[in-house]
Amino acid sequence: MNDIKRIAINTGGGDAPGLNAVIHAAVYAARNRGWEIFGIHDGIDGLLEPERYSDGGLMPLTRSVVRNIAHLGGTILGTSNSGNPFKNNGRIDIVLSRFQEHKLDALISIGGDGTLSIARELNEKGLCVVGVPKTIDNDLEATTTTFGFDSAVSFATECIDRLHFTAESHRRVMIVEVMGRYAGWIALYAGIAGRADAILIPEIPYDISKVAAHVKRKTANRSRQYSIVIVAEGAKPVGGGVTLKEAAKAGHVERLGGAGESVAGQLRELTGKETRVVVLGHLLRGGQPTSLDRSLGLVFGAAAVRALAEGQDGVMVAINPPRIDYVPLKQATAKLKLVPVDGYGVMTARTLDISFGD
Ligand code: F6P
Repeated sequence: MNDIKRIAINTGGGDAPGLNAVIHAAVYAARNRGWEIFGIHDGIDGLLEPERYSDGGLMPLTRSVVRNIAHLGGTILGTSNSGNPFKNNGRIDIVLSRFQEHKLDALISIGGDGTLSIARELNEKGLCVVGVPKTIDNDLEATTTTFGFDSAVSFATECIDRLHFTAESHRRVMIVEVMGRYAGWIALYAGIAGRADAILIPEIPYDISKVAAHVKRKTANRSRQYSIVIVAEGAKPVGGGVTLKEAAKAGHVERLGGAGESVAGQLRELTGKETRVVVLGHLLRGGQPTSLDRSLGLVFGAAAVRALAEGQDGVMVAINPPRIDYVPLKQATAKLKLVPVDGYGVMTARTLDISFGD
């Protein structure tokens, strides 16, 4: 059993609805055990550059600080996703010495694969760490679900619902590009719920002529002369690659974007129909968490503190109903969870006459 008295918590990578719910529950759980808890500002920056912050980079977290935050989007701690700050430099040792200096016994790190890899590096250097899985992309293998995903899918679905009206009025093909990086979870479930005609996801490379033929067939119906096509930002044509806004530079992650525009241009050519593109982008990450993401966040925050109290170290808390599992960080970050191409989501879409362009 770890002898814990003071812990730190941080949020890293892209923000996701539900982060503040995790912080809320972790603070309540820690204080209930008599522990002190501090929030590190902006990922790990609060420890690397303390002089930038009026509180020295560490925010003391009490019940009163977090009482009314569980329903809020974003993260009260701030975040950073400019890549791994430890790549090719000695900064990891600075962070470890700050933990000692502040007598911090452990870290709860909330993030996706990038942040949890940083947490794993700290753990390998001797810091006690428990990770919490976060990402709207739902692409972490070891947990059935991550918080943020439901909020993103719900908002995307609402947007698609709205687009049906304008698409129908103008008899247009509306292309909706959604985030998700190399996984198509958001596109798939928002596309099914929003009754799209085609969903293009990274896991199923598309043939644009098949997408065009499908759109033409569906719009030939006099009672429905418009079409909605959902394009995951990581979608790629057969034999082609993803569309990039910006390639990865040293220590940074590559930025996807433009897949929707590319599909729209080709569909315009091939169908002769007017097309318009809507990129939902960061709107999917903003806003308040749905009640599901809020409760998932609270479950994860409480579980992370319980894990530390039980002596767990170097693990990520994972939800695999009805259990909370403790998965080694190495395993948690080993591989992305992609949409199974023969899973029930894809099968349902096909039954509903939704094309994947294959
Ligand atoms: O991983 C979450 C995510 O929102 C991806 O879906 C998206 O590609 C990326 O982050 C965008 O990150 P940024 O905030 O750097 O634009």
